[in-house]
Amino acid sequence: LSSKEKYKIGFSQCTTGDDWRKSMHREMMIELAFYPDFELVIKDANDNSEQQINDIRQLLDEEIDLLIVSPNESEPITPIVEEVYNSGIPVIVIDRQIASEAYTAYVGANNYLIGKEAGDYAVKLLNGKGKIVEITGLQGSSPAINRHNGFMEVISQYPDIELVASESGKWNYSDSKTVMQNFLDQKLDFDLVFSHNDRIARAAYEIIDANNIGEKFILGIDGLLGDDGGIEDVIDGKIDATFLYPTGGAEAIQLAAKILNKQPFDRINILETVVIDNNNAKILKLQYEAVDDLQGKIEDQKSVLENQIARFKSQRSFLIVVLVLLAAI
Ligand code: FRU
Repeated sequence: LSSKEKYKIGFSQCTTGDDWRKSMHREMMIELAFYPDFELVIKDANDNSEQQINDIRQLLDEEIDLLIVSPNESEPITPIVEEVYNSGIPVIVIDRQIASEAYTAYVGANNYLIGKEAGDYAVKLLNGKGKIVEITGLQGSSPAINRHNGFMEVISQYPDIELVASESGKWNYSDSKTVMQNFLDQKLDFDLVFSHNDRIARAAYEIIDANNIGEKFILGIDGLLGDDGGIEDVIDGKIDATFLYPTGGAEAIQLAAKILNKQPFDRINILETVVIDNNNAKILKLQYEAVDDLQGKIEDQKSVLENQIARFKSQRSFLIVVLVLLAAI
């Protein structure tokens, strides 16, 4: 391929419904403004691994130059990703991992570390003594496995801290509400909820609040801005802390550009995380709002530019028609 041609990037997303994925797409679109010769095609697997395999096959049929994939579950998605990679198409794995090394590059935060940091935070809140319930992400998806394992590594060192229950909320709000309600129906005694994302944390908070069982500590993960985001829930005192889980959208596009333009790149790109609690939630909110504002301006400028280009093109075709007509006279 010469660099003059348009590159087609296929993105197989495990799901597109939630704000975290929307924020990832927004980051990607803003970054793509710098690469006018890139076309991005996004397929939504709707939390379904079978669907995701079909999506990737379809992207192959559409002759993509590079695949970005966020695997719904690691094991079922691994063979198809290996197939793509072995056929010579570069593969960037983002956020969730596959169960093999057959990919060109990875971008995402370290979920094991996030689990450990959540564990440290839980120990601190509980003063080394107490009972914990955990609501995990989708079993079989790598962040759920790694967040759990990292958390356990820390709390298992404290004999007076006990994990009394762990169930999957499948990353979503409504399943997590059911799980939390079940915990209460079982009359489980607990002091803290470790939720694998902020939607789960919100669900846990609402069930606990509605059942008048007194305050419990709640930890989440993601740290998004916005009314439904974790930062707001920390500020509102609904949850005690959340851990920033950057989407990597911009980084994935930058990586794709380097790979397609045959420039050097890092194979493993680990994004930073940070704890968000009462000490920094407000300042982070202000900073993120400023960034959000700037992003909005970049998007506005992009659409102004696109309109001008479209106008220029139509004026140019009009002029050509006039010239052709004049020449004919
Ligand atoms: C978004 C999400 C996040 C979570 C991530 C894990 O779809 O559920 O809330 O941190 O996926 O892959």
